[in-house]
Amino acid sequence: MNFTGKKITVGITGGIAAYKAADIVSWLKQSGADVSVAMTASACKIITPLTLKVLSGKPVATDINSLSSDWNVPHIDLAATDLFVVVPATANIIAKVAHGIADEIVSAAILATNAPLLFAPAMHTDMYNNPATQANLELLAKRGCKFVEPGSGRLACGAVGKGRLADIEDIKEAITDALLPKQLLQGLKVIVTAGPTHEYIDPFRYISNCSSGKMGYALAAAAAAAGAQVELISGPCQLATSLNVKVTNVVSARQMAAEVFARYNDADIVIMAAAVADYRPEVIADHKIKKTTETTVNFVATTDILNELGKSKGKKLLIGFAAETEDLTDYAQQKLQQKNLDLIIANNISQPGAGFSCDTNIITAISAEGETQQWPQMSKQSVAAKIIELITDLPRFAALPSKKEEK
Ligand SMILES: Cc1cc2nc3c(=O)[nH]c(=O)nc-3n(C[C@H](O)[C@H](O)[C@H](O)COP(=O)(O)O)c2cc1C
Repeated sequence: MNFTGKKITVGITGGIAAYKAADIVSWLKQSGADVSVAMTASACKIITPLTLKVLSGKPVATDINSLSSDWNVPHIDLAATDLFVVVPATANIIAKVAHGIADEIVSAAILATNAPLLFAPAMHTDMYNNPATQANLELLAKRGCKFVEPGSGRLACGAVGKGRLADIEDIKEAITDALLPKQLLQGLKVIVTAGPTHEYIDPFRYISNCSSGKMGYALAAAAAAAGAQVELISGPCQLATSLNVKVTNVVSARQMAAEVFARYNDADIVIMAAAVADYRPEVIADHKIKKTTETTVNFVATTDILNELGKSKGKKLLIGFAAETEDLTDYAQQKLQQKNLDLIIANNISQPGAGFSCDTNIITAISAEGETQQWPQMSKQSVAAKIIELITDLPRFAALPSKKEEK
């Protein structure tokens, strides 16, 4: 493994398996990562910070108030990382992170970090099964945290049940996946559309919808992280793009259609996540329409981009979204067939936690082969990563010309 150039923070909390974190830290260091370690007071009673200092080659943070020459502000320094791993993760740290508590070095650094979070929980079976712990785990999963599931077997206290720290090799694999995402789309060209469109009535007024663009931007980032060459055609949004995504900004449905059609021939995969207006004003007034004038605006249908793409799909993969408020699966299935899609991602936009503006989504994914998957509420980043994985499982994915050239 080569983690050269990667920064990783390992939080160690007070589970009896804390000594096993030493192996992880040693492996990370040997793999070239820049490893920082933070330990709770309980963890320090189980394994000494000295051991972790020797293995990581750096001072270990154990005190949030320690402003020595080793740290500027310790919890903020630890938060600036590519990945934050908590191994073992006690019931206590899971509860604290779920509720935003920051009363010692590990929880404070986690609250301050924007890095992906990976927990390896370990605790007595009764603590694990406790509804409070389960609710906290669910809350964290919804926010996009990742877990290495504890195993079942003999626990340190002699009892038998679920709660043992996962196998070290499984934890290493989860860290590797998080630090070096698999390049599932290496060499492929992907078009993603995102956001709403604005259909102008006069130079100062338009009709639009509530799309924030978050789902499409998350998909573009996930496709780029998977190694694809990504072109994002974006309606008006206030979002930052990830570094490896080429963005073309458009305003209207007509412009969106033109930009997508211009790139279509070259693409391997097209993901239409934009909420493109179905209608536009027939005429755009040259001047601001006066308040005194009684006005009727006639609307005409915009080009159905997905429908046009479906007609000349060739060997490409075409993925559409269905934002519905009723009969979700029926409408989605109809749209999948009518538009010749390979996969449709349906969401009920009237459901709390799903749809346009929020940070999470609740998805039903239906493939052309008829396979239906329902996913629980998840962050849009997690949904995007799952959609990319699902695309690579589609039977037509292996038949993409660019994949064949590779062989
Ligand atoms: C010997 C011993 C082993 C423990 N093992 C665990 C454990 O595996 N998982 C857990 O959640 N708590 C375990 N605990 C309880 C935690 O140490 C306790 O909840 C503590 O407050 C956790 O603090 P921390 O999360 O700040 O490290 C253990 C306690 C002792 C004394």
